[in-house]
Parts: sequence; structure tokens; C-alpha cells
Amino acid sequence: MRGAGRREPTKEAPLRVIVVAGARPNFMKVAPILREMRDRPGMKPVFVHTGQHYDDVLSADLLRELGIPAPDMNLEVGSGTHAEQTARVMTAFEPVVRDQSPELVLVVGDVNSTVACALVAAKCCVPVAHVEAGLRSFDRRMPEEVNRVVTDALSDYFFTTEPAADENLLREGACPSRIFRVGNVMIDTLLRFRDGARSRGVPARLGLPEGGYGLVTLHRPENVDDPRILGEIMKALQRVAETMPLLFPVHPRTMARLTAAGLGETKSGLRLVPALGYLDFLALLCDARVVFTDSGGIQEETTVLGVPCLTLRENTERPITLEQGTNRLVGREPATIVREALSVIESGPGVATPPYWDGLAAKRIVDVLCRGVEPADHGKVAKSSEKAPLAGRSKDVRSEDRG
Ligand code: UD1
Repeated sequence: MRGAGRREPTKEAPLRVIVVAGARPNFMKVAPILREMRDRPGMKPVFVHTGQHYDDVLSADLLRELGIPAPDMNLEVGSGTHAEQTARVMTAFEPVVRDQSPELVLVVGDVNSTVACALVAAKCCVPVAHVEAGLRSFDRRMPEEVNRVVTDALSDYFFTTEPAADENLLREGACPSRIFRVGNVMIDTLLRFRDGARSRGVPARLGLPEGGYGLVTLHRPENVDDPRILGEIMKALQRVAETMPLLFPVHPRTMARLTAAGLGETKSGLRLVPALGYLDFLALLCDARVVFTDSGGIQEETTVLGVPCLTLRENTERPITLEQGTNRLVGREPATIVREALSVIESGPGVATPPYWDGLAAKRIVDVLCRGVEPADHGKVAKSSEKAPLAGRSKDVRSEDRG
């Protein structure tokens, strides 16, 4: 695998990397990577925003808060069905790849922009690096699961956050020497901004008792698209709100569904507000007594913060948050949600941070890339002689020098 055609970047000839982001959680992930790349003379990042998210609070304000410069390019694809959105990103991204001739395209997470850009890069024979590779919910009804599986099938470099991801990739035939356990870039961002966020006094500004409120986020189609299911969840939250005030910053797609279903008015205790900026939301997360969510990233953030998290889903692609973190899967059954909420409010948190979720994940990723990138080739899928037993073949980058 190694050697032939590998290009080690230098100051004079830096590695040309397109870094892609499209939707809200992507920005928190690319921020530390872009920052790290800009500090290295061997790296020449080009930041492409696909425009999948375009509302200020989900996009422009967020970039400002995270301190990342404006994107070098915005493809302005906007909303649409999955096929429309994915196709628009692909059509707009292909000429960018042609014009920029990157030596690597780096994608993060599992949104439609991730898979669309990976597909374009692979067809242009440009190597793909996937940050947050290998996560699997094993539920193909989730659009994100389809995006994860396809992106990993096309990727040449796999940067992973937890052991289960490495195992999934090995099982699917990824080459072990291409898997790098680097930690969690979303946590890099959280650790960088946590203290500043807490000093903003957000709970007090919103009239919430510090450490004595719950926080809610919901946006997944399976929870919000069916008015009956959404109504049941809202009823359960309203019940919990009789015990403790709940704040629900509402994602635009959820707001549209709530309004259409006549569920936009809530009784006291459960307060709906428009989606919040990153720093305000992080501040609220830090001091919450309990969090209700269907987001992937929030399961990880609560794990690091030691805040109990109840995930309104049947499965999670991030099992380490259940094994070591504060996360519990509670599904969508109202009685279960209420019971688990009251029990967790009673018992309180526990903290265990997974290995390498320490603020240095982006540094590890860029270290790997600085050692050189090989051209896209068919060697990225393990040949039978290279296939590894499931356990113990991928390595964390701290313990092994891959140079
Ligand atoms: C997307 C990601 C999801 C991620 C979430 C974070 C996919 C398949 N889904 O879901 O994994 O967790 O982002 O927020 O990529 N809308 C606006 N303003 C915007 C963007 C969207 O009002 O700036 C509304 C539109 O009505 C749009 C709907 O939200 O149709 C859905 O947006 P979309 O980007 O398709 O998916 P999300 O639900 O945001």
C-alpha cells in the first residue's frame, strides 16, 4: 500500500485539500481541522460550504462564533428532497474539484453534503478522507446511515472516534493501515469554547435555575414528521415539565412540523424558542440537569460534560456514549420517556470521557496527512491477504508512528 506515488507535503509544495461542510454539525467538526491546517506550512486548505444549511443561526452566525473565516466557496444548494439536494451538491462540487485539482477531499460526519462530495471526489480519482468514519446504527431507514455506509465505501482515509467504528470498518473490508483512531473533533470544539460559553450567563438570562432545568432538541424525520408521534413526544415532555422546567430550542424543520400539527403552543414549564447559536446552546448544555435529544453529536457532548442524556431513538451509531458516557436510549414511548427522565433527575450524572476525546483530534488528523497522502487507488479496500481479524488491527495514532 505504502510508498508508490505517496506525496509528502512541504512548505514549498503544500498539500491541496478541499475541506467540505454543509450542515450545522459539520461546522463544529471542520473548525478545529481548518485551524490546525492553517497553522501548518505543508497544508493548503480550501474551505467549501455546500449551502445545505443557509439560515444564519445554522450557518453564518455559527461560523463567526467558531472563529472560522468565511468559506472560500459557497455552493448555495439549499433544501430539497434527498435526491435533489445530493444531486445539487454533486453538480456544483464537480467543477470545483476540476478547477482546484485537490490532492485530497476531506469530508466530515454523515449529512447529504458528506456523501455527495465523497462521490464526486472518488469519481474524479481524488482520495477521500472521512472524519467520523465507521459509525453504524445498522438502521438503513436513517438517511444518515446510508450516507455513512456509502461515504466509507468510497473513502481512502478513515479517521475514527471510538473502537466500534474501527471494528465496523474492518468488518466491511477497509484496509487496517488506513484506519486512524484520532478521537473526536466535535469535542475539540466543545473543549475550546466551554469556559467562554459558561461565562455568558445564559441560563440566568433565560430565567432558568442553574443545574435545575432540562434541554430538548428534536429534528429527526422519524420523530418529527408524523404528527401523531410528535404529539406523543410533546405530551411526554409536558409531563416531565411539571417536575422541572424544560427549554426546547427548535430546529427550523421541527418548527414547521409543530406549527402544521397545531403543537406550537405549550403549557408553562415547557418553553419553545427558535434554534440557538452554538455558544448559547453549549452554555445551556453545561448546566442542564437532563437532556432529551435525537441528535448524534449531543450524545457525545453530554458524555464529555457528564450531563445525563436521554436519546429518543431505538439505536445509536455511537455506542461508546452508552458504555462509558451518560447516554440512555429511551425510544419514543411516552411512558418510558417520562419514567427514565424522572429516574435520571433523581439519580444524577456520572462522568467517563472516552480515550482521545481530549481536544487534540484535529492535530492528530493533520499529523497523519502531513506524513503524506497516496493517490486514490484500488488498494484502499483490503485485499484478502490484508484482511484483518476484527480485534486489535487498527491502531490509535498516538501509539504508532505510521510514517
Ligand atoms: C441535516 C442532516 C442531519 C443533521 C442536521 C443538523 C441530512 C440527511 N441530514 O438535517 O443529519 O443532524 O442537518 O441540523 O443531511 N431548513 C431551514 N433552514 C436551513 C436548513 C434547513 O429552514 O438553513 C429546513 C428546510 O425546511 C429543509 C429542512 O429544514 O427542508 C431540512 O433541512 P435538511 O438540510 O434537508 O436536513 P436537516 O433536517 O437540517
